[in-house]
Amino acid sequence: MLRKKSTSVRNTHDVHRDSEYVLDVQDLVVHYELEDETVEAVNGISFKLKKGETIGLVGETGAGKTSTALAILNMLPNPPGVIKNGAIFVEGRDILKMKPNELERVRGKDISIIFQDPMTSLNPVMTVGEQIAESILLHENVSKSEAFERAKQMLETVGIPGSRAIEYPHQFSGGMKQRVVIAIALACSPRCLLADEPTTALDVTIQAQVLDMMNELKDRFGTSLVMITHDLGVIASICDTVAVMYAGRIVEYGTLEDVFNHPLHPYTEGLFNSLPRISQKGDKLKPIPGLMPDPTKLPVGCAFEPRCKYATEACRNKRIESRQMGETHYVLCDAYDDPAFHIDMKRGGEDE
Ligand SMILES: Nc1ncnc2c1ncn2[C@@H]1O[C@H](COP(=O)(O)OP(=O)(O)O)[C@@H](O)[C@H]1O
Ligand SMILES: [Mg+2]
Repeated sequence: MLRKKSTSVRNTHDVHRDSEYVLDVQDLVVHYELEDETVEAVNGISFKLKKGETIGLVGETGAGKTSTALAILNMLPNPPGVIKNGAIFVEGRDILKMKPNELERVRGKDISIIFQDPMTSLNPVMTVGEQIAESILLHENVSKSEAFERAKQMLETVGIPGSRAIEYPHQFSGGMKQRVVIAIALACSPRCLLADEPTTALDVTIQAQVLDMMNELKDRFGTSLVMITHDLGVIASICDTVAVMYAGRIVEYGTLEDVFNHPLHPYTEGLFNSLPRISQKGDKLKPIPGLMPDPTKLPVGCAFEPRCKYATEACRNKRIESRQMGETHYVLCDAYDDPAFHIDMKRGGEDE
């Protein structure tokens, strides 16, 4: 049911620089320009993050989550990656307009990223202590020995004895390596941390430990966090707001409570439908019948239309704009043109 008159999300999201926000992504468009075709990976994404807040970007593989994260740090592989449109303000300054040396200062100091596979970020021939110290030396005016002492403390902070600073990455387990990566990312207390599937490669118990630790550090340091995942359990355990991504757009945006308890988009419905309970850790997205559209041949209309049980002819014909459905809740679905439209949530197992 409509709680508020519909308006475009741009009107509320698309505000100018505003230091109230640690991160402010405006209408981001990312393409991969290949020889004979163009992959439209991110197609107009906007969101903002306040100090200490955590947003979850959730969606199937290929939704454009990693491309969004790489664009935010202005580290897309180029070629073929190109930022076709958008502005990305970190602490009020546009990352996309920075010179390389300025960018290098901002990365690690103001904004940092953790990838799924810790070995992407770790150097196998340097001790973990040296690697943490390196990040500190790059950003802060301290001596080498001071940096190494700080590195040891940072290891302790992520639950690894400081004495292990002299060991190499291969001497650590997968979960421990990811802790080291987190220590590197947090070594200079960045205001904003992007975590791209940081626990996906870990087994479930270790996942939970790493998540608990991230939750704790986020509170301790007041870090704003962008948590990228396809795991609804991860979202439920750490996020304040949720952006559901599909074919490079945010199809639903709201608080955790909005999206988990009152989902509006038929795609979100599909994500939740087969889950026994909403907040169980380790709940994975169940496949929804059909496939995501080919990102080199995106339709004009709704990209979810071919898989949507509510779709009508009208969904195919024009670009769908985001509409506000509640105080903090937005959806990209024209079925809501009909005030009586609602999705029918049945969570498998809830009544059993
Ligand atoms: N370097 C690249 N060259 C061409 N296409 C790419 C490249 N990186 C990603 N893509 C494509 O962009 C789309 C979005 O990918 P990605 O951002 O990795 O999504 P996610 O992280 O949600 O799985 C996918 O169709 C993917 O195949
Ligand atoms: Mg990814």
